[in-house]
Amino acid sequence: MKILPYLPDQSGLAYAVGTTLDRFIKLKQSDFPFASGELSQLLRDIGLAAKIVNRETNRAGLANIGGAFGQTNVQGEEQQKLDVIANIRFMRALSKGGEVCAIVSEEEDSVIDLQNKSGKYVVAIDPLDGSSNIDVNISIGTIFSIYRRRSPLGSPIEQEDVMQPGTEQVAAGYVLYGSSTMLVYTTGCGVNGFTYENSLGEFFLSHPDIKAPKSGQIYSVNEGISEEFESGVLDYISSCKKRKFAARYIGSLVADFHRNLLKGGIYLYPATIKNPSGKLRLLYEANALAFIAEQSGAMATDGENRILEILPTSLHQRTPLYIGSTELVQEVHQYISKTRDKITEFCH
Ligand code: AHG
Ligand code: MN
Ligand code: MN
Repeated sequence: MKILPYLPDQSGLAYAVGTTLDRFIKLKQSDFPFASGELSQLLRDIGLAAKIVNRETNRAGLANIGGAFGQTNVQGEEQQKLDVIANIRFMRALSKGGEVCAIVSEEEDSVIDLQNKSGKYVVAIDPLDGSSNIDVNISIGTIFSIYRRRSPLGSPIEQEDVMQPGTEQVAAGYVLYGSSTMLVYTTGCGVNGFTYENSLGEFFLSHPDIKAPKSGQIYSVNEGISEEFESGVLDYISSCKKRKFAARYIGSLVADFHRNLLKGGIYLYPATIKNPSGKLRLLYEANALAFIAEQSGAMATDGENRILEILPTSLHQRTPLYIGSTELVQEVHQYISKTRDKITEFCH
């Protein structure tokens, strides 16, 4: 009888493609400076909420067929828009887990103090990003940032716990509910992407150690409002066209960012006359993606300053956003600074 030894994965990587999200988080726990398991548990809680929102997202089309569902679902809950549902799902997951003390959400006017004396972490979240795409079956997402609280455990939440610059994030990520559902996150040691396998109900590592291309040939911007952009940005967009870059704009930040992260490109949401600080939110949109961008070798700025170094002054603060391949973000900076310098000269 011939007996063959079982040969385990020879790659030598603890994080071989196909590793489940839960296992990966556990294996990587020692990467955190304060590893005690709570951040790992928090990431797993987010993973679970993402699965639930994924299920709701998949059903969204059916739920909109008149008469197929009533005004209330089987639990007697009123049917709500998916962004409200996603908010409820993430709030529940984050509050029940026990690791979080406060939540900042796009869907809540104020900070939610969970009154959890042992919660070490603060989470900022955009539960459903790209909501205008929900009704038309286009990719949408979730974005999250995780910070350690600064005030002592057990005390009430302070402003300093919530208003931290992006450099203080201990983890950040996004979920993309697209043609397949993915969860991409960083804890400051590179970026890893997991794809959801519906039939098994698991996220599996599919994109280990993502590195963004240094350059690219995609520009993503809502050109319909470009009349409101400053001239440096318009000049940059013209230069993209002269170079025959592909214009790709989904209108879901997560999806646009994800494509450019993998393929190389730049996403721009500049200041406009209507929104002089841009449209996107610093705390739960820009910071998380900026952290991931930098961890993958890409770059994120407001056209001048590094996003991660902006000191927040209000909860729902907006910022212009230029994010993507380093060479392209540096290029747009040059265009912006050239025209801004001219304006300054003119004023003197
Ligand atoms: P949200 O759905 O969370 O409010 O975010 C929408 C954001 C972002 O996802 C997207 O990139 C941007 O709004 C699109 O804005 P325009 O429609 O102005 O292009
Ligand atoms: Mn959003
Ligand atoms: Mn949203």
